[in-house]
Order: sequence, then structure tokens, then C-alpha cells
Amino acid sequence: MAKFIPVEVFDLVIFGGAGDLAMRKLMPALYHRDADGQLPAGCRIISSGRRGLAQDEFLGMVEEALRSNLADEEFSGALWQTFSERLQYIQTDATDHSSWQGLKAALDGFEDRIRVAYLATTPSLFGTIATGFRENGLIHDNVRIVLEKPVGRDYESAREINDKVGECFSENQIFRIDHYLGKDTVLNLLAVRFANSLFEPLWNRSNIDHVQITVAEELGVGGRIEFYDQVGTLRDMVQNHLMQLLCLVAMEPPTSQHHDAVRDEKMKVLSALRPIGPEQVKRHTVRGQYQEGAIEGRPVKGFLEELGNSESQTETFVAVKAEIENWRWSGVPFYLRSGKRLKKQYSEIVVQFQHIPHSIFPQLSDDSAPNRLTIRLQPDEGMELSLMSKEPGPGGFGLRPVSLDLSFEEEFEMRYPDAYERLLLEVIRGNPALFMRRDEVESAWRWIDGIIEGWTETRQEVEGYVAGTWGPTASSLMLDRDGRSWFKGE
Ligand code: BG6
Repeated sequence: MAKFIPVEVFDLVIFGGAGDLAMRKLMPALYHRDADGQLPAGCRIISSGRRGLAQDEFLGMVEEALRSNLADEEFSGALWQTFSERLQYIQTDATDHSSWQGLKAALDGFEDRIRVAYLATTPSLFGTIATGFRENGLIHDNVRIVLEKPVGRDYESAREINDKVGECFSENQIFRIDHYLGKDTVLNLLAVRFANSLFEPLWNRSNIDHVQITVAEELGVGGRIEFYDQVGTLRDMVQNHLMQLLCLVAMEPPTSQHHDAVRDEKMKVLSALRPIGPEQVKRHTVRGQYQEGAIEGRPVKGFLEELGNSESQTETFVAVKAEIENWRWSGVPFYLRSGKRLKKQYSEIVVQFQHIPHSIFPQLSDDSAPNRLTIRLQPDEGMELSLMSKEPGPGGFGLRPVSLDLSFEEEFEMRYPDAYERLLLEVIRGNPALFMRRDEVESAWRWIDGIIEGWTETRQEVEGYVAGTWGPTASSLMLDRDGRSWFKGE
């Protein structure tokens, strides 16, 4: 049974405190940690937003958000009472620092405790809010600032944000969130690779044929359509979540779990990524956009219909063939794909080993299944190792692929905490290991910028796909050209 160690007393200020992320993710995460006794008495959660909301009105919003985001048995009146006493709403205009008196008055005199500013706002406000903190004298040694992804929309804007925030906070006070790094199953990648001796000797170009990383969603863009139309899947999912997964699969063993040891190794992977520019985009990337279709038999609209604009070239699906130029991975493609309104909701990493070099079984034809390690990130979290096995029976010698399948839920019999539960506590503890360092974010943007420039220069248009399928046909063709196919989704 996991033990829950309480954190030190803190004040958490959430900018965008009445917004979607705060209500859907941050409040439920904090409530869960409170329920497990990790938030000591006196901790305050101060939500700051532009809207004028009376305290009662705000509490009503949080209660409703908790009731709809928690399982029925997780919400209790008594716990809500304790939790709600920690909550406070203060109206602040992030861009007008003279409107910060209320916030300043609430924080002044509490310099002895940890103070966290969580920026759940658009990235264009990150610099302004950091400056507001400094101008209002709210920064001391125990202050940390959390930047939600995406940090910027390209390398230049990320650099500007990092510079501006960096003028007010030192790098070890800045926590750039990619919530995938807080998922237990993602962290388990470190355990699979570095707490077992089985895989590491095989983890290279001599034994691995290729790697597939898929983050597929059934959901469409929903209420975020205006925002999403400015962003697209490459920036929203690939620049952060998929590239972080790629780094964890591909990095060299770090010397320790120390935050910079791990982040240095991830950085080396990012620097070794072969650029994809105008010459490569057509063969190495696919852009798709969902059209009307059906998800589990339910008709759904296309992206353009939802947007009410028939011109948009924003992608809701991306597939990329990434290559890492180093000794370990040279010649091993990493196929990444992510999309909205796909057939099934799932995220997984598949490591495909090479074919056996010589067969002693005449009945084992060339296209027999090579070994495969599948790490299921969500849902149905687990791991599967596929092996060839003899079919039982007295006559002949038949072979069949079988799998060793481990379901984490069955094995560990516990609720999988949401990534934000872990990440919020790590910020309070001041441990930056699960957050992106400045150089990682900027390096990832450089690679992504190359793809976007390639798309613009070659006028690579989005290819439509019917909602409820596995994306555009070009995605299968990209692997087909290499004599491979996606493991799910053909
Ligand atoms: C967010 C993206 O970062 O991750 C969303 O902005 C996406 O578009 C979400 O839906 C997926 O996260 P998860 O944890 O549900 O896989």
C-alpha cells in the first residue's frame, strides 16, 4: 500500500483559476491529494481570474467540477468542507499589474511558506504574469512558477517567453509542465528500461527494427475549437507529449535519477533528431483533418463544420517518421502518430524487434511475427511481450505468436492517479525532474519548426479522414513504403 507523505505548507496561486484546466484537472487533483492527507492544515489555493466572481459563486463552480470529474464514491461532503476552506477567489487582470492589490494583500506576510504560481493561461501571458509577480514584490527564494504547455508556438516565441520569465525567476524555480511526464505508465518506462537487465542489451539498432508511438483520441476538439485551430496536432501533441515519450524510449541510461542527469540524456536525443525540412516532409510526415463520420455508431461532425470555416488547413492528425542520428539508433525509424476522432482511444509504445536471423523451422515463413514489446500507457495500462511458441499437439511442429500480458490494474489493484496529482506535489517539493528544462523545450520546437516550414514551403495540405477511422490513408502508406504497418489501425 502506497504511503502518502504530506508536503510542506504552501500557497498555490492559479492564474486562469476559473478556467477549464483548473476546474477539470487541477481542482480534482488537489482534492485527491487532500483526501489522502497530503495537504497540511493552512495550505491555501488561491484562484485568480479576470472574471468578477463572488466567493460563493466560485465555490459552487468548484463543487460542480469536482462532482462531475470524480467518481461518485470519491466525493464526500465532509472532505469537500475541509477542501473548500482552502479555496479563495481573487479577481486579477494579469495584464494590468495595478489590479493585483487583492492578490498582493492575500500573499503579503506569508513569505515563510512555499509559494507556487501556476499559469494555466495562454502562453502569451506567461511573461506578463512573471513580471507582475516581480513588480508586486511577490518573489522570494521559496517561490516557484509553473508554465502549462505549450510554451510558445515556435522556437522564437518559446525563447522570448523563457527569456522573460527567466528575468524574474531562476531556471530551478521554473516548472514547465508536460502532463505526460506525470503519468505512472510513462514513468514506468524508466523502470522497464533501467530496473531490469533483460531489455537494455537488446535496446539498440542491432536488435530493434523500429518503434511506434501512438496517442489516439476518440474525442474531437470540442469547446477548444478556436484555440485548436490556431495550434493543430503537431504543436498540441507531438512537440511535447510524443517527443517526450520518444526521448524516454531512446535516451542513454542516465547515471542517476537526478533531474539533470535524466534531462541531459533526453536533450542528447533531441539534438540527434534528423531535421525534417521541405525535402523530407512529403515522405516523412502526414497531416490529416477529420471529416464527418461516426464514433462508436454515433454520428459526429467534421472539423470544418465545427469550426464554421471551410478554409482551415489545421491538422487534427499527424504521423511522423523520426530518425535519430547516433550509434544506438541509426537506421531505426521511430514512427509517431496522434490524432483526434480516431477509431479508438489509446496510447501505446510498441518496440518491434528484428526477425530471427535464420529459421530452423521450415513452417516458420518469412512473415512470421518477430518479438514485440508493447507498453500500454492508457487505457488498460500494462505491458505485453509477444513471443513465438510451439502449438501443443503430437503431430508436426506448429508455431504461433503468444503473449505475456501484464495488466497493471490487476497486478497493483489501485487507482491510477491523474498525472497532475503527482506533478503538483513535485512542484511543491521543488523537484524539477518531471518537468521540461528550457533547452529541451526549445530544441523540440526547432525540430517542429522545420516540419512546419516544410509544410508551408511545399504547400502540403491536410488530407481528410473520416471520423472514427485510423486517419488518412497516407499514414498507412508511409509505413507501407518501408515494408511495415501500424500494429493497430489498418
Ligand atoms: C493535452 C492536449 O495536452 O493532452 C489535448 O492539449 C489532449 O488536446 C490531451 O486531448 C490528452 O491528454 P490525455 O492525458 O487525455 O492523454
